[in-house]
Amino acid sequence: MIRVGLVGYGKAGKAVADVLVQDERFELCWIARRSNKPTATEIPVTRLDKTTFSDWLAQHPVDAVVDFSDSEAVLEYGEALRKHKLMLVSAISCYPPSTLSYMQTLGEDIRVMNSPNITLGINFLMLAARLLRRIAPFADVGIVEQHFRDKSEVSGTAKRIAETLSVDEDEITSLRLGGIIGHHEVIFGFPHQTVRLIHDSIRREAFGTGAAFALTLLATRSTGFYTYEELLLDMLRRELQNDGEVSAAYA
Ligand SMILES: NC(=O)c1ccc[n+]([C@@H]2O[C@H](COP(=O)([O-])OP(=O)(O)OC[C@H]3O[C@@H](n4cnc5c(N)ncnc54)[C@H](OP(=O)(O)O)[C@@H]3O)[C@@H](O)[C@H]2O)c1
Repeated sequence: MIRVGLVGYGKAGKAVADVLVQDERFELCWIARRSNKPTATEIPVTRLDKTTFSDWLAQHPVDAVVDFSDSEAVLEYGEALRKHKLMLVSAISCYPPSTLSYMQTLGEDIRVMNSPNITLGINFLMLAARLLRRIAPFADVGIVEQHFRDKSEVSGTAKRIAETLSVDEDEITSLRLGGIIGHHEVIFGFPHQTVRLIHDSIRREAFGTGAAFALTLLATRSTGFYTYEELLLDMLRRELQNDGEVSAAYA
């Protein structure tokens, strides 16, 4: 069982907490947030504070920290994680370059993964699209993203997919309709056939299952700074080497 501390208990963090509590491979030991507002759970809550966090960890030991807070929190807890040799799965979507560099230094001493897109489905879609792009560089590629009416900017995930496939960001088609949570589609147009890779987000709990999956993969790795894609690729390589046998480590 992996003992986990969760930083951030907002819209995403609440859903992640629900998933971790229900998954018997994990024990959610505490929640840290900016305030020390109570949560809807009986799990201990602390206000994240750089000066006391190492003591908190000593009294509330965990194996890993999952971060769904904001880009500054890691500067508060990073050194404590280094000291206590804990794993870190960070879902923070956008770190400033200096903070990302700091996280890479954490990777010299502990296992760190950061992913701006933490759902397993989107990471699988990106990997599959990359593979098809490699196999069929001659196919036309289109990217469509659909989100709720009020989302003003182009989806960061769609931009990342475009970058991965060397497609110009201007080629992304965005639709803003009602309450769509998140739809990403990559269309490969061949002369005689069409391949569509589609991912639909249904509930925020997908962030929790994505983080849980990342934790199980990261636990098999040595010290370092990883992306989700790297962990997934490594797993696929191992699976292929095992001739398709499902490894118990990931079951
Ligand atoms: N990678 C992905 O796929 C993915 C998916 C969803 C969200 N995210 C990321 O997750 C983060 C949270 O998103 P959200 O929608 O849940 O936001 P939110 O509703 O605003 O919640 C933010 C939570 O983080 C806590 N927090 C903020 N700054 C903190 C700090 N410096 N130290 C400790 N706790 C802090 C807040 O504490 P209080 O409760 O005390 O205010 C709150 O609980 C964002 O960075 C978002 O980009 C990533």
